[in-house]
Amino acid sequence: MSDFWKEQAAYWPIAALAPMDWYTDSAYRQIVKKINPKVVCFSEFYSADWIVHSKFLANSVLPHHESEKPLIIQIFWKDPEMFKKAAIIIESYWVAWIDVNMWCPAKKVVQSWHWSSLMINVDTAFKIIEEMSKAVKIPVSVKTRLGYNDADNLIEFAKWLENAWAKLITVHWRTYKQAFTWEADWNMIYELKKNIWIPVIWNWDVLNYDDWMKKLQNLDWFMIWRKSFGNPWSFLPWSKIPSMNERLEIMEEHSRLLIELKWRKWALESRKNLVQYLFGFPWVKEFRSQLVRVETFEDVQKVLKDIRNNV
Ligand SMILES: Cc1cc2nc3c(=O)[nH]c(=O)nc-3n(C[C@H](O)[C@H](O)[C@H](O)COP(=O)(O)O)c2cc1C
Repeated sequence: MSDFWKEQAAYWPIAALAPMDWYTDSAYRQIVKKINPKVVCFSEFYSADWIVHSKFLANSVLPHHESEKPLIIQIFWKDPEMFKKAAIIIESYWVAWIDVNMWCPAKKVVQSWHWSSLMINVDTAFKIIEEMSKAVKIPVSVKTRLGYNDADNLIEFAKWLENAWAKLITVHWRTYKQAFTWEADWNMIYELKKNIWIPVIWNWDVLNYDDWMKKLQNLDWFMIWRKSFGNPWSFLPWSKIPSMNERLEIMEEHSRLLIELKWRKWALESRKNLVQYLFGFPWVKEFRSQLVRVETFEDVQKVLKDIRNNV
């Protein structure tokens, strides 16, 4: 086990913030780490081609705050050479490890042999991981699905990736065909873990602390997205529920971080994130509709102050 994994093992069971296009940016990752510094954060997905060909774009997504470490950058593309070049660039930004997206089910990209189509294009999948692992010192991991049409090849595919030097695998409990529907067969993931050496992350529908302890069993980590959106406290053990004041403080901090990160796009980003923190509180309905119209940071502060005065 490398020092990196030994360090992470001290945090067992490890909670990971799932990669999420348009959401798991540096601002949200800093918020999650502020609430629980032990969470390991995955970035949104970025195109390997994009990182290789645009210094400007690489510079806008790869630098990160000290508190986000160890950060995982997730990338997608289709040919091993581009993955390798991107991996070398990513490593130079002090990223902890690189995750390859073999998860995404979007039809357009699957048809062009990106993303989850790599589950049925296993030679390319192998080469991608092998080439990247040879090119960089940091670990390379994979996020994938139960399978493409069915789950029959899961163990074989995972072993294949392990042989290519993947250091960890995250499995989302849906096949490509199932997309976001159907009740998963959980036993398959425990079976998978018995058959491979590398750490396995459970991903799908983790609800709260009790739920993750129940699902973890022989697995190493778990990963959450939907239940953490607007609720970064879902990463705290014992399913802590924050007071409204704590919630409002975090909302203000999130908005402030978005200003630093997104500049002109700040207002749009703030609106979509902030309303989510107030989901499930019927008495703040009126304030939620004010939050989707904020134009300045002072507008945000005013709405938060009004909520505080109404608690
Ligand atoms: C709108 C949307 C965007 C997503 N973006 C990514 C992504 O960039 N990379 C990735 O691997 N998974 C992505 N996911 C999948 C999530 O990481 C996660 O696998 C999924 O939401 C299931 O976990 P949950 O049940 O905790 O929500 C995305 C999911 C949604 C709904």
